[in-house]
Amino acid sequence: MKLVRSISEMNALSRPARSRGAHLGLVPTMGALHEGHLSLVRAARERSDLVAASIFVNPTQFGPNEDFAKYPRALESDCALLEREGVEFVFAPSVEEMYPQGVVTWVVVEGLSEHLCGKSRPGHFRGVTTVVAKLFHIVEPDLAFFGQKDAAQVAIIRRMVRDLNMPVTIEVCPIVREPDGLAISSRNAYLSAQERKSALVLHRSLMRVQKLFESGERDSASLISAAKHEFASAPAVRLDYIEIVDPETLEPETAVTKRTLVAVAAFVGQTRLIDNILLEP
Ligand code: PAJ
Repeated sequence: MKLVRSISEMNALSRPARSRGAHLGLVPTMGALHEGHLSLVRAARERSDLVAASIFVNPTQFGPNEDFAKYPRALESDCALLEREGVEFVFAPSVEEMYPQGVVTWVVVEGLSEHLCGKSRPGHFRGVTTVVAKLFHIVEPDLAFFGQKDAAQVAIIRRMVRDLNMPVTIEVCPIVREPDGLAISSRNAYLSAQERKSALVLHRSLMRVQKLFESGERDSASLISAAKHEFASAPAVRLDYIEIVDPETLEPETAVTKRTLVAVAAFVGQTRLIDNILLEP
């Protein structure tokens, strides 16, 4: 496994490999790797000849009052995990390498970027699309792997790739959960023991929606109200949003008549967590 720090070296490694006909899979991450990330790496390992993982805590997707400075960083143990998964390249550039002159050129997916997390984290998705576009240019992958955990991110990146004719196939992997249902996230490390218990309300509310849906409820307002009821039982958790939307456009749906995304975000103490499920009539 090769740890690559510079853009020119990454490009010099991936280009000849691809011209030999090897299929290159990229797993973009911000590091502090967990089983969710590793599930993407394993999917990439299965479906590509060469696997690159990127580790970059991207400052342009964090708001001024968010956790960029305290976001967990663990390059050494991350590299050990990736080596064990048989990854060929780890691209871990510095902020200076990625943004030597700051940013004035952004990739913005209009409309979609203002839905769900985009509403409460203005500018977040423009940072994500800009850095992912840069990573695609630098690594030139044939396939790129993302988690359904960040459902809005998936919709926005798919749209960027389509609109800009980027020659990469987006592969999406299911949410990996703890045995009790909590979606695994690097931010779970911020939770106290009490908060860890309270955090289960996100999954619980989604399971409530799933059950009601399975018993025949199709009205979004009723499904959302049941989910909100669940949050009322967890006063330590502040709901940011629970929405029922089209998984591609992220526009709200008044009823579940086709494949539909139920997405939730909430603050558990200072920690903002997200989760979602897909309903399929
Ligand atoms: P990060 O939060 O590190 O996540 C990297 C990838 O892992 C994302 O595609 C995310 O959806 C996936 N992932 C995280 N937790 C998961 C889980 N429990 N199950 C399945 N997949 C999971 O998302 C980002 O980084 C950044 O926005 C990035 C795309 C790297 C751009 O900076």
